[in-house]
Amino acid sequence: MPLDLRGMERGPRVFAISSGKGGVGKTTLAVNLAFAFAAAGKKVLIFDGDLGLANVDVLLGLTPRYHIGDVLVGRCRLEDILLEGPSGLLILPASSGFTSLTQLSESQKLRLLEEFEGLALGLDWVFFDTPAGISENVLYFNLASQERVLICTPEPTALTDVYALIKVLYRRHGVKRFHLVVNWTRRQGQGLEIYRQLLRVIERFLGSISLNFLGDIPFDQRVSEAVKTQQPLLSLFPEASASKAIRRIAGELSEVNIRPFEGGLQFFGRKMMGVCA
Ligand SMILES: Nc1ncnc2c1ncn2[C@@H]1O[C@H](COP(=O)(O)OP(=O)(O)O)[C@@H](O)[C@H]1O
Ligand SMILES: [Mg+2]
Repeated sequence: MPLDLRGMERGPRVFAISSGKGGVGKTTLAVNLAFAFAAAGKKVLIFDGDLGLANVDVLLGLTPRYHIGDVLVGRCRLEDILLEGPSGLLILPASSGFTSLTQLSESQKLRLLEEFEGLALGLDWVFFDTPAGISENVLYFNLASQERVLICTPEPTALTDVYALIKVLYRRHGVKRFHLVVNWTRRQGQGLEIYRQLLRVIERFLGSISLNFLGDIPFDQRVSEAVKTQQPLLSLFPEASASKAIRRIAGELSEVNIRPFEGGLQFFGRKMMGVCA
C-alpha cells in the first residue's frame, strides 16, 4: 500500500528538468540548481534518470557503488545507493540498473515507491534529471513531478523538439503547467525572444497552457571548464555570468507557487503504481 503521509508538514518540491533535444544543458542546470539550494542549507536530491555520458555522478566526480537494480532485487536500500556531493547534496544514481521505469513489475514499483517516500520525507527539493526526448521514461519523470522545467537553446531544432515534448505531455496526459529556461544565449534578450516565439506557437496550436519564463543562461566557457574539473560551476566560478544566471533562476524557482499534493507524497504513489505506465 502507498504510505499515508497526510498530515505531514510538507513534502519536497519536486521538479523534472527535461528537454526535447540532448546536449542542451539539463545536467548542468540540475547539478547547479541543486548545488545553489544545498549551499543555502536545503536538503536536496538529484534523481539521475539520464543515461547520457556526462551524467550527474560524472559531473561531480563521484563513483556509484550500487545502483537502483540492487534495490529492486532487495540487495540494498535506496539510501545505500545515495551519493553525497558538495554541500551535502544527494545524488540518486538511478540511470544504470534499469532501462525503463515503466517496465518494472508491480512489486518492483511498490518497493521503489516505499523506499522513495521514506527518503523524500526529509528533503526540501528533488530534481529529476531526465533523458531528452519523449520516451516513456521522460514522460514518467514529468508526470511524477509537481512542476516541469524545460530547457532549450536558441537553435530552431531545440525549439521544435521542446514543443513536441509539451505537446505530448498536454495532449496525452493533460499537463498544462511548464517553466522554460533558454540556455546558451549569445546576447541579452535572446532568451525572452525564444520564449515569446514558443508561446506564440503554443497559443496557436495547443491553447490553454501556462509557460513561465524562468530566465536564460548565456554561453560561458567556464561551464565546460567546470565539467572538466568535476565541480559545480557555481562552486568553482561563483561570479561567472552563467553562475549568476543560474542563481537568478534558483530565485525564480523558489517563488513558484506549487500546488499542494492531494495527499502528501501519495501523488508519487499513484504515478508509481502505474497510472502513466
Ligand atoms: N551555458 C553554457 N555555456 C557553455 N557550455 C555549456 C553551457 N551549458 C551547457 N554547456 C556544455 O554543453 C554540454 C552539454 O551539457 P549538459 O548539461 O550535459 O546537457 P544535457 O544534460 O542536456 O545533455 C556540456 O559539455 C556543458 O559543459
Ligand atoms: Mg544530461
